[in-house]
Amino acid sequence: MSHRTSCFQLNDLFPREIDIEVCLKTLKIFQKLEGDVNCVVWDASLVLAKYLETMCQCKPDFLSGIRVLELGSGLGVVGLTAATLGAQVTLTDLPEALPLLRLNISENKQKIAISPLIETLQCLNNTVKKKPTIYLTQEIRDSEIQKKLWNVFYEKLSESFYIEKIPEEQQHINYRSSDILLLKIIKK
Ligand SMILES: C[S@@+](CC[C@H](N)C(=O)[O-])C[C@H]1O[C@@H](n2cnc3c(N)ncnc32)[C@H](O)[C@@H]1O
Repeated sequence: MSHRTSCFQLNDLFPREIDIEVCLKTLKIFQKLEGDVNCVVWDASLVLAKYLETMCQCKPDFLSGIRVLELGSGLGVVGLTAATLGAQVTLTDLPEALPLLRLNISENKQKIAISPLIETLQCLNNTVKKKPTIYLTQEIRDSEIQKKLWNVFYEKLSESFYIEKIPEEQQHINYRSSDILLLKIIKK
């Protein structure tokens, strides 16, 4: 695709995948084939991103709910890693770096998910007259960081929604599992 933006063409980009093993997610970071300092993944950013991951391995709530300001984010590796590990992150860079940084945020934001998901659920309520019933299903994960993220999500959600766990005996006899939560959610 040769979609043109102010600062790059998509066919001049190539992705680099960065695994965040502690929460089994992979960031996809677009770099430019040619360009200035803000269009490549720097090794130093990997060192810091992996340090954050290591800290979260030892202490799962290391970044939970922490506000992070990253100066000179470049392609966003460190900030996006911190956000994936539970921080509330603000990324910054020079104006010319922002289009590619925005692309990388957009590419990875579904992996971050807590606040945007809750905001989306709240929006649904604001756009219809009758309170909608929302069903949400989630597999219970094993890693400490994933458990922590789920707890943060659940706590935030319960501030503005009633959450009811649908008992297994009400679910399909062959399609239910003690590992999978099925929730019914209604705005308070
Ligand atoms: C060497 S790169 C590192 C990028 C990123 N932190 C990384 O490690 O991949 C330095 C970054 O600082 C940004 N930068 C330089 N001057 C800046 C300024 N005055 N305000 C914000 N960002 C700036 C550059 O655009 C570039 O993205």
